[in-house]
Amino acid sequence: MKRGFPNITVRTVSLTVASVLTVAAFLTRSGLAQPTPEGRQQMSQDTSIEQTKAKGFEGVDFYYDVFGAMPGQDPQKTAQQVMKKDVAEKPEVMTKQRKLLEERYDLSCKRTADLTMTKGKPQPIGPVVKLPSKVTWESLGRSSAEDIKRRQIFPAGFDRLPHPKHAVGGQIFPQVQIKQFPRLERFDVDFDLPDCWLPEFPPPIFLTTHPELGDVSQGEVLHADNFDRLFRGLVTHTQLDGLRLLVTQFPQEEFNLTHDRKTVNPSLGVTCLDCHVNFHTTGQFHLNPDTRPQMQRFRLDTTSLRGMFNQQIHGSKRAIRSLEDFTEFEQRTAYFNGDPIRAMKKGINMIDRLQVAHMGQMQSIIDFPPASHLDPMTGRLDRTKATQLEARGEDLFFGKAKCAGCHMPPSYTDHQMHDLHLERFGASADGPIKTFVLRGIKDSPPYLHDGRLPTLEDTVEFFNIVGGLQLDQEERKALTAFMRAL
Ligand code: HEC
Ligand code: HEC
Repeated sequence: MKRGFPNITVRTVSLTVASVLTVAAFLTRSGLAQPTPEGRQQMSQDTSIEQTKAKGFEGVDFYYDVFGAMPGQDPQKTAQQVMKKDVAEKPEVMTKQRKLLEERYDLSCKRTADLTMTKGKPQPIGPVVKLPSKVTWESLGRSSAEDIKRRQIFPAGFDRLPHPKHAVGGQIFPQVQIKQFPRLERFDVDFDLPDCWLPEFPPPIFLTTHPELGDVSQGEVLHADNFDRLFRGLVTHTQLDGLRLLVTQFPQEEFNLTHDRKTVNPSLGVTCLDCHVNFHTTGQFHLNPDTRPQMQRFRLDTTSLRGMFNQQIHGSKRAIRSLEDFTEFEQRTAYFNGDPIRAMKKGINMIDRLQVAHMGQMQSIIDFPPASHLDPMTGRLDRTKATQLEARGEDLFFGKAKCAGCHMPPSYTDHQMHDLHLERFGASADGPIKTFVLRGIKDSPPYLHDGRLPTLEDTVEFFNIVGGLQLDQEERKALTAFMRAL
């Protein structure tokens, strides 16, 4: 603890310096003289918010951190003002995001009855990413990276997908989940993507320890009230204790008991399985803790915890080497924007290593959904069961399309990070990202770390262009069919 003190001091000092600089920069810009300390104290909350806004958002925008309020201000009152302002701004925030989505995607939600996820929700069919005018998927596929960049014809939907309130960020839950768990509703921003692009709610649960049982969820969302009833006797004592912790609410930046939160009522926090619903995902998202300034942070679509037992790095950027470490740090870093000081102010939760192990053991027995066309020994297609289209897709996946260079069976990952260098096409550079697993991939739209690609067809168009693969339409169809069989 002693060793932590110098850090805290340095942090506080630099924050103070930053606030002074902010005020100074604003005053210089508006032609006013440097304020005296007393003058600073007298500034109203509204102007301090305006000043931070004028400065732009760098790092965590502590304008909504009521603990960082000007001296003499009442945090309770400040919080009420911030909420009033947030609520008033919400319709505009959501209209802007809707417009952005309309520009990027066809939002009409195409699906067919015969292509479903594991429990029967229709899969979204694409491609839904919109093309720039006078461009087709064929012409784009034939163009070089330089050409695409020069003519600015890389589809907007292939570039980063922003958080609807990127300057603030934080965790956002889909409407279908908020209906069942109203405690997950924020007053400042709503979920933005259409329900047809999301995984099924609730997702099924498969245990490596009980393959004979199939889905053990009984159609329920695992949470504090039912986990014991559903899992006692089915798992070990350590696993059950791990599950208890995975459904226990821990404080988080937007969901906590302090004034500085984004829920109307004080909240005990969020649970691991609020995002990783039934150890899978239903599209919850937040911002990554790894990048700064704030506007450069990635939106992160919640990953599935299925098949964790077979993955060696965790997180798109962090590449944390063990499930236990990720478990321990998820709620200390990601929950608080990678800022331990804010975590302390809002109720940091230190999980004992023993409990971390229990949580890890529970996550390690979650299996992928069954894939009836795969050979259980190799993870490749069983050609006596596969359709012709799937077989053609597999040949391409391991051949011309070069997907297996990174996505290798049985989980269809190489446990590495790769840089797709999207800046070659004029898009934002994301740097290296974890090769996500493709087993069970039909169950977890939207795709890529930020969910920018709503359908599997979009992922094939994306890799066709990014990989310079020159696949024709039939080949692209076959590749999609193969991924649906995984
Ligand atoms: C906002 C919802 C949210 C909550 C709450 C949450 N997670 Fe996550 N989790 C994510 C996202 C998003 C990722 C992907 C992170 C990335 O790509 O860097 C992730 C990644 C993970 C991974 C690594 C997956 C991989 O890449 O191998 C593990 C393990 C994990 N979470 C466990 C937990 C545990 C344990 C908790 C509770 C302490 C938790 N999560 C709470 C959203 C959440
Ligand atoms: C150079 C390595 C590499 C190759 C080759 C590659 N991928 Fe990937 N793949 C990745 C990485 C890295 C990601 C994560 C990128 C991101 O999230 O920004 C990814 C993500 C995906 C996803 C989304 C996974 C998810 O959970 O959201 C799909 C689908 C996919 N790849 C399919 C393919 C197909 C099909 C091919 C062949 C045409 C292919 N990939 C070739 C590295 C590769």
